[in-house]
Amino acid sequence: TIQKVCGRQIFDSRGTPTVEACVTLSDGTCAAASVPSGASTGMFEACELRDCEKEFSGKGVYKAVNNVNTLLNDALKGKPACCPFGVDKAMQVADGTENKSALGANAILAVSLACAKAAAKAKGLEFYRYLGGVNGVTLPVPMMNILNGGAHASNNVDIQEFMIMPVGAKSFRQAMQMGVETYVQLGKTLKERGLSTTVGDEGGFAPNLDSDETALKLLVEAIEKAGYRPGQDIGIAMDAAASEWFEKDGYRFPKKGESISKAALMDYFERLCGLYPILSIEDPLSEEDFDGFSQITRRLGKTVQIVGDDLFVTNPKRLQKGIDGQSANAILVKPNQIGTLSQTMEAVRLAKRNGYGAILSHRSGETEDTSIADLAVALNAGQIKTGAPARTDRVCKYNRLLRIEQLLGESAVYAGTFYAPGKGR
Ligand code: PGA
Ligand code: ZN
Repeated sequence: TIQKVCGRQIFDSRGTPTVEACVTLSDGTCAAASVPSGASTGMFEACELRDCEKEFSGKGVYKAVNNVNTLLNDALKGKPACCPFGVDKAMQVADGTENKSALGANAILAVSLACAKAAAKAKGLEFYRYLGGVNGVTLPVPMMNILNGGAHASNNVDIQEFMIMPVGAKSFRQAMQMGVETYVQLGKTLKERGLSTTVGDEGGFAPNLDSDETALKLLVEAIEKAGYRPGQDIGIAMDAAASEWFEKDGYRFPKKGESISKAALMDYFERLCGLYPILSIEDPLSEEDFDGFSQITRRLGKTVQIVGDDLFVTNPKRLQKGIDGQSANAILVKPNQIGTLSQTMEAVRLAKRNGYGAILSHRSGETEDTSIADLAVALNAGQIKTGAPARTDRVCKYNRLLRIEQLLGESAVYAGTFYAPGKGR
């Protein structure tokens, strides 16, 4: 049973305050978890409680920490830790709001994860095994964000993320090798051309480019120079994060300062998909445009994964709406968008039952917490997006997956070309 829940303010990879929770069980077992924070957050996400005082530019989380120490401690003391659903339900009741705005989704998620980690530890189980049982054995395809733009970099690139997916690897370890070699090759190419090799918030390079399309050319070139076949060995994924571009009657690339109609934006993506080995596009349109998502999924969805991030915000209700309207064919899964472990797991299960791909994901502001790596394996999600293979806030998740692959030994399965339902040879 849970004896004590306590919280503290720590810092994420951007130097922004965030919540860490520590849970102690009656047998003395103790575990901690911390939560990340986004820059291009969706408007339908659960509420991240901030102090809004003058310290830390309004971003302190002492109120959330205080909620952990008082109200959440009271709600959970004496309750069993071994049922995430029960723990999360008790916290949702204590909060009493739909979007967790009373106590803060940052407070609630930190406690939710810490309770589950403590329960796993008390049973002597690795976190992925505790969450997924003996059936959780799939190492996800990493979506490595090797070129950053949008809200994650101060360059002139409007598309937020250009990622590589080493689908042709035979193991996660090999996938990491392919990704790292391509990342290093991209850095060399940029340097040779006199372009900047400083990195953005997710560890990818953030050069100024003459167009966003140049980023795709650079990725293809880096894949080839690293000795791999673009498309077969390593595919490309993009996160447009187009909610950031939305204006009342169309879209506007904020960095280039150019306006574009919704129809022209869809044509643009279709053209790029015809020219480059693009396997996946996330948030091609704004977070409220379920109909537009359905249109682009009809146009491209047979061959391209259309991912809802800001559209679904890991919320099973919004995902169900998307499933009913065939608005996408995959969901990005960020535990802090919904605020509990059990609702996160529910979103992944709902996605999989309906033939949707599921991608466990970091946020642009991260901590050293590696829960998403264990979740990806436990739920056989098939994909994980956790930045470039650089910077410890990103690499710690990939390193955790390397350890899990070794722990699983013979039973480990790398998702590879089977990264989503309906994919694979
Ligand atoms: P965020 O970006 O964490 O800044 O929201 C990640 C994403 O949009 O996928
Ligand atoms: Zn996104």
